[in-house]
Amino acid sequence: MSSHHRIVPEFAVGPLNRRIFGTFVEHMGRCVYTGIHEPDHPTADEYGFRGDVEALVRELGATLVRYPGGNFVSAYQWEDGVGPVEDRPRRLDFAWRSIETNQVGTNEFLAWCSRVGMEPLLAVNLGTRGLTEAMDYLQYVNSPAGTTLADKRVEHGVEQPWGVRLWCLGNEMDGPWQIGHKTPQEYGRLAQEVGNAFKRYDESLELVACGSSSHAMPTFGEWERVVLEACFDHVDHISAHAYYEPIDGDRVSFLACSEDMSRHIDDVVATADAVAAARGSSKRLTVSFDEWNVWFQERWQGENSVEITEKPPLIEDVYSAMDAVVVGSLLITLMRHTDRVGIACQAQLVNIIAPILTEAGGRAWKQAIFEPFALTSRHARGIVLRLAGTSPLIDTPRFGQVEQVWATATHDPQTGDVAVFCCNRSVDRSIEWTLDLSSFAGTALVDHVTVEAADDPDRYNTADDPDRVVPVPGTSSLADGVLTTQLAPMSWHCLRLTSNPS
Ligand code: AHR
Repeated sequence: MSSHHRIVPEFAVGPLNRRIFGTFVEHMGRCVYTGIHEPDHPTADEYGFRGDVEALVRELGATLVRYPGGNFVSAYQWEDGVGPVEDRPRRLDFAWRSIETNQVGTNEFLAWCSRVGMEPLLAVNLGTRGLTEAMDYLQYVNSPAGTTLADKRVEHGVEQPWGVRLWCLGNEMDGPWQIGHKTPQEYGRLAQEVGNAFKRYDESLELVACGSSSHAMPTFGEWERVVLEACFDHVDHISAHAYYEPIDGDRVSFLACSEDMSRHIDDVVATADAVAAARGSSKRLTVSFDEWNVWFQERWQGENSVEITEKPPLIEDVYSAMDAVVVGSLLITLMRHTDRVGIACQAQLVNIIAPILTEAGGRAWKQAIFEPFALTSRHARGIVLRLAGTSPLIDTPRFGQVEQVWATATHDPQTGDVAVFCCNRSVDRSIEWTLDLSSFAGTALVDHVTVEAADDPDRYNTADDPDRVVPVPGTSSLADGVLTTQLAPMSWHCLRLTSNPS
């Protein structure tokens, strides 16, 4: 079996949007406390943030981070998390049935982001709160000294406004579980009001309206249409969320779930563009895919299964080699849609369905899904190219027939670097893949690494054995401008080439 594709520099999807390498930190379980923040940890910095985790976050290469939720934000009072730490209230977090100590809040988090080099995407509470509190929060965070709320920030030790540009208008407001859940009419109206106020203050803000909490929601599509009809003129992005797992053990569909993400993006874009067309607007929203990952929801007993405590160990899923291949395929999908995906955040960063796990007071290590993200963020540069060609099809119970080879490529015209990312989405069939690069002058193969899962799909990394799932050298050759690569079943690949810059 073989598959053949071709790339040429002129076939561009668009410039690679590096905001798609985002992540997500929620006040949930051990993501913040004993995840990124642990003042008593031996590696903690002067601000109480873990140095070992920070080093891994840098290596991961995340460019942007969404905060503070998630479901958490829908009952969050931002005022609880600012001012002297010793005066901050302990609150019951109804979303995750936890005790929130507020030892980390907006200023500590934004300072951490700027030290680590990630752009923040702040969410406002539109569940239990509304327009006034959102406007207050924006003033506290972004306005220069001279008015009461900005002066409060200065009093709290932050002289200069943070200048946060990206804001989520609530979280998953379509979900009946969401605190302050709303109809699309109610939410659309509120998003319109907040969007209007925010943009009156600062037109350069970029606002994300809540789309559906999943492609499978019964209201999917209709929710986006009604919400956008209300707030279209005041927002820039519409959110999408997706979590994948092998439902009832169906690994064939799980390996192909990038197909669902692809259709999901297309569906949201089509709906946003239909709203634009109906109002005669040439404005194009982009999708903020601000929660995506593998999450074994079938295995999870729910937040009611744990005692109400501080930092309960919630959804600390352990990822396998097969999950790493799926995460790689989802990143390929986001890149293939770089023209219409403005933001994406893998959910979450540490401990909660995350690429990094930690022990309280102890070690931090990389999960199997870490490297596909890190390698993609590190090597994808420049322009995303459209692949021309064909792939054999595979049958899947959930998505019908899908292409076996799922791939994308980037080309950096400045350096001449070409990066190719591909997956064999079959659980049991290997394939030889050829990629014609003859339009790139002087191409040479630099490196090829792969994560292969078929021999032992369930193997995973542990603190004692953190290198069970790591990329290994792949098998490929380049002759007469044609790259030939052997793709084992259930495998993800990153290939780097150079060419003479045009
Ligand atoms: O990421 C975990 C949770 O999943 C988020 O809090 C919520 O937005 C989503 O349902």
